[in-house]
Amino acid sequence: MSDGQTTAEHGFEDVLGYLKESRGFDFTGYKRTSLMRRVRHRMNQIGIDDYGDYIDQLQVNADEFSALFNTILINVTAFFRDPEAWAYLQEEVIPALLAERGPDDPVRVWSAGCASGEEAYSLAIALTEAMGIERFRQQVKIYATDVDEEALTHARQATYTDRDLQALPPDLVSRYFEQHNDRYVFRKDLRRSVIFGRNDLVQDAPISRIDLLTCRNTLMYFNQETQARILGRFHFALAPNGVLFLGKAEMLLSHSRIFDPIDLKRRIFRKTASGTVAPTTPPALAVVHDRRVDLDE
Ligand SMILES: C[S@@+](CC[C@H](N)C(=O)[O-])C[C@H]1O[C@@H](n2cnc3c(N)ncnc32)[C@H](O)[C@@H]1O
Repeated sequence: MSDGQTTAEHGFEDVLGYLKESRGFDFTGYKRTSLMRRVRHRMNQIGIDDYGDYIDQLQVNADEFSALFNTILINVTAFFRDPEAWAYLQEEVIPALLAERGPDDPVRVWSAGCASGEEAYSLAIALTEAMGIERFRQQVKIYATDVDEEALTHARQATYTDRDLQALPPDLVSRYFEQHNDRYVFRKDLRRSVIFGRNDLVQDAPISRIDLLTCRNTLMYFNQETQARILGRFHFALAPNGVLFLGKAEMLLSHSRIFDPIDLKRRIFRKTASGTVAPTTPPALAVVHDRRVDLDE
């Protein structure tokens, strides 16, 4: 083909174009190789080999879009995923963050790519442990967003199994969850401070004045240019001195110094005072992906 693309690649681009047109969902900023592998995996599952035939299937079968979406968007998550990094956040970062703020100042947190809510509720537990229940309820707002509505529904229900809570010490389970038969529901009084909503990191405006932003195991799905754009928005979203907490496999490579490492090993960064970036300007910044610890690929 004259533009260097094979027929298969053209067919794949047609699928992406169709998803954008029909569903408004733009997958073009995702890493091409893994995205293609996931789409092919879904096509194999239903015995379709040709991209054109797959578009036909998406057209006639409304459920196919959600099946494809579930194959592409990986919702793997856990409470306090990567315990060592969370311990550092709890012991060092959160106390410092609270000390910098007045006793009545609001504390605004954003869990971006929150999947089924475990990360957002881990933040609620960590902050409650640091501030006490009353201050948490009065001062903290945790915005938890994802592009996947099914995952958000699960997150809002806040209902987890024994297995989901495995990593939590029993005293935290008894203090933060109510048991209903074989299910555990996160405390309702604290849940009021956790607000779930749909936000597409590729297309939607960021939340503002954020003190602590966790975006873990999500940026790694995007290509470098899209990551840079999202990181520019995160810089805009953060309040002065705001903290960014990335996933274990995600390493920030900065040339423009809009984030400084607080602890590189735990992937915790602070917004630098200088270097203001407009929300639409991609900074010279990217996340490199450490393949040794990437379990999702
Ligand atoms: C592997 S999970 C990470 C969950 C959690 N942050 C953690 O580290 O355990 C990745 C999440 O990113 C979400 N995601 C993928 N593309 C997204 C986008 N464009 N905007 C917002 N969230 C997205 C997926 O739906 C999925 O829930």
